[in-house]
Amino acid sequence: KKRVTEDDYDQHQYQGFWYHPDILKGTMAAQNHYQSQQTDILLATMPKSGTTWLKALIFAIKNRKVNPTDMLLTLNSHELMPFLEARLYANDLIPDLSVLPTPRLLATHIPYHSLPQSIVDSGCKIVYLCRNPKDNFVSLWHFRNKLRAAIKKTPIPIDKEFESFCEGWSAYGSFWEHVLEYWRVSLENPNRVLFLMFEEMKADPPAQLKKLADFLECPFSQEEQNKGVVDEILGLCSFTNMKNLEVNKSGTSWLGFTNSAFFRKGRVGNWVSDLTPEMIERIDKITEEKLQGSGLRFQLN
Ligand code: A3P
Repeated sequence: KKRVTEDDYDQHQYQGFWYHPDILKGTMAAQNHYQSQQTDILLATMPKSGTTWLKALIFAIKNRKVNPTDMLLTLNSHELMPFLEARLYANDLIPDLSVLPTPRLLATHIPYHSLPQSIVDSGCKIVYLCRNPKDNFVSLWHFRNKLRAAIKKTPIPIDKEFESFCEGWSAYGSFWEHVLEYWRVSLENPNRVLFLMFEEMKADPPAQLKKLADFLECPFSQEEQNKGVVDEILGLCSFTNMKNLEVNKSGTSWLGFTNSAFFRKGRVGNWVSDLTPEMIERIDKITEEKLQGSGLRFQLN
């Protein structure tokens, strides 16, 4: 199935989810060619749920013994942990990823059931990060308009973008189905998929960071905790620190996105400034219906 978006490109439905045509090519190439290893670490998210932040945290956790600071300060998160389908397999490339250092840190927005089979078979660790749909949507709308402004296109009105999001037409959508798939796998196999929420990360960062390190099988020792390593990593990857890094203030990382576009407010509950009461009612209703019986609940503060 196809639909024409506000940006005048054909969005394709593939295995039940919507894709930009270039991303679809990358997804299919990854499905056909990616050879996963059990040691891989895969971060999966919906766009705008805090991927950039989690990439930095995962990189810092895995590389803390070899001093992550230099690389975190000089390289953008998307270079440290590239997207499988939008970077590595973009432009019809079939890269040789066996040359990357172990563990390979990779990211994806591909829905669980469309992941390359080798990822499912390898048993590698998958970290899934989600965010409440209202903040996720508002972040997406601002991001898209920031990109449009950069190429002198008029902004997309919020009601138009909202309609698409609610219908599940956004990139990698439907949002709710994407989250629910990973949620269910995390319940069935918690050693395989760690399910994190942006809101919980913001509410208690040290606890979440320790949980993440435990899951990745490199827990913080008591000595490290006494030395303040957890706080050091959180400080390094804090919104303010990352946003103000030279590397994130300028340049583009992938797909022509400016690095600065990935940092806006970094808060929970920012949707209040943009959503109308009608929009709130509608999106809350969809969320309630979709999540019913799943055991998943979004936290708003
Ligand atoms: P807002 O638009 O609500 O500010 P992604 O990385 O998946 O594209 O998500 C981008 C969202 O994460 C943006 O949300 C951005 O500001 C926020 N973000 C980026 N870095 C962050 C950090 N270090 N801490 C908290 N939020 C961060």
